[in-house]
Amino acid sequence: MTITTGSATQLNVESIRDDFPVLKRASASGAPLVYLDNGASTQHPVAVIEAMSDCYRDFYANVHRGIHTLSEESTRAFEIARDTVAQLLNAASIVEVIFTAGTTAAINTVARSWGDANVKQGDCILLTIAEHHANIVPWQQLAERTGCQIAFLPVDTDGKIAADIVRDHLERLRPKMFAFTAVSNVLGSEFPVAQWTRLGHEFGATVLVDAAQAVPHMPVDVQAWDADFVVFSGHKICGPTGIGILYGKESVLESMPPFLGGGAMIRTVSTNGYVVGELPQKFEAGTPPIVEAIGLAAAIDYVRSVGLPAIHAHERQLARIAIDALSTVEGVRVFGPPADQRAGIVSFVVDGMHPHDISQWLDMRGIAVRAGHHCAMPLHHDLGVPATCRASFYFYNTLAEAENFGLAIAEMQRKFARRRRT
Ligand SMILES: Cc1ncc(COP(=O)(O)O)c(C=O)c1O
Repeated sequence: MTITTGSATQLNVESIRDDFPVLKRASASGAPLVYLDNGASTQHPVAVIEAMSDCYRDFYANVHRGIHTLSEESTRAFEIARDTVAQLLNAASIVEVIFTAGTTAAINTVARSWGDANVKQGDCILLTIAEHHANIVPWQQLAERTGCQIAFLPVDTDGKIAADIVRDHLERLRPKMFAFTAVSNVLGSEFPVAQWTRLGHEFGATVLVDAAQAVPHMPVDVQAWDADFVVFSGHKICGPTGIGILYGKESVLESMPPFLGGGAMIRTVSTNGYVVGELPQKFEAGTPPIVEAIGLAAAIDYVRSVGLPAIHAHERQLARIAIDALSTVEGVRVFGPPADQRAGIVSFVVDGMHPHDISQWLDMRGIAVRAGHHCAMPLHHDLGVPATCRASFYFYNTLAEAENFGLAIAEMQRKFARRRRT
């Protein structure tokens, strides 16, 4: 799915788009759909839709339970899906891959299981101010239960955090947990995960990486990162909702108590109690998201066939086009690092315009973006704005779409500036 031009590998976006039925539809205004809300959720290629419907049609049954053909076939597909995730992440073992309901559920599992077992009053949890609420609230709830403290690393005006600031905080606070996002869902900042993990470990912290905006967009190697936990969601990598991944180092997961209790996570149960089962089922109580796992595996196969290095380069190009276009528009403020150092996420405000009105203006032209706080209220508070408008790209977006997005903002600004003058 990639074509090579000179030394650079570029995506054949037109052929990729043929695989995504929804991209052929019009928006409510009748304009062709330009989907730039990929940070919230991505669209699905036919391969994912078919993998899931094939399972429902041909071999669906519960997994790890039945000694019958359908259960054996669905169990095999479910465990192949786990292996597909392990390969994507370069996990050392498939038992390190836990299926959860999503990134939020994965972080809550760590905060409940690892947190309750390891954190006590007076301990510190270190986060960045750029975290999604999913990587803030579970720790605040842990603080309510234990009396631990939460500290936040600040971001600078370029959406970055210098290594010496990270080191200073780690040295001074000696946090039990250092939990940070690999890529900010608002700023598009790409944080140096391996470097921060090394620093975290140097000062005795356990490290969790929220990779919800990273795994779908760039090559990720959990062994190179060396973090104790890495989490992401299926629906941001062309997979279904209702599934996400908690990767944990085997030794760390082994040391943790199970979070949810019920079927599948036990070895034996008697009226006197229970004996906990093995990894990974220890953290998969109840019927898991079977068809969703199969859909996620199909999504990963698809995304890998496109190529994660090429996806990353393409999205950076789209962000650059959008930022260049926005920088020519009076009254526009774009947040985050320079275009050549960020992911395909562009959040901005326009003087005198509410982000919801901008989003509506764009929607009338077929362009879907997100407006609001993007589940990052502390970051918006720091940026000094209650809300931003966010265009977030994926590999199926064309260069023309990024250009047209910029033109639509310029047109909006001209029109409303004229109206304000008259
Ligand atoms: C960086 C980040 N973390 C966590 C989440 C939460 O993901 P989910 O809603 O799939 O649990 C999101 C979703 O937008 C995100 O962008």
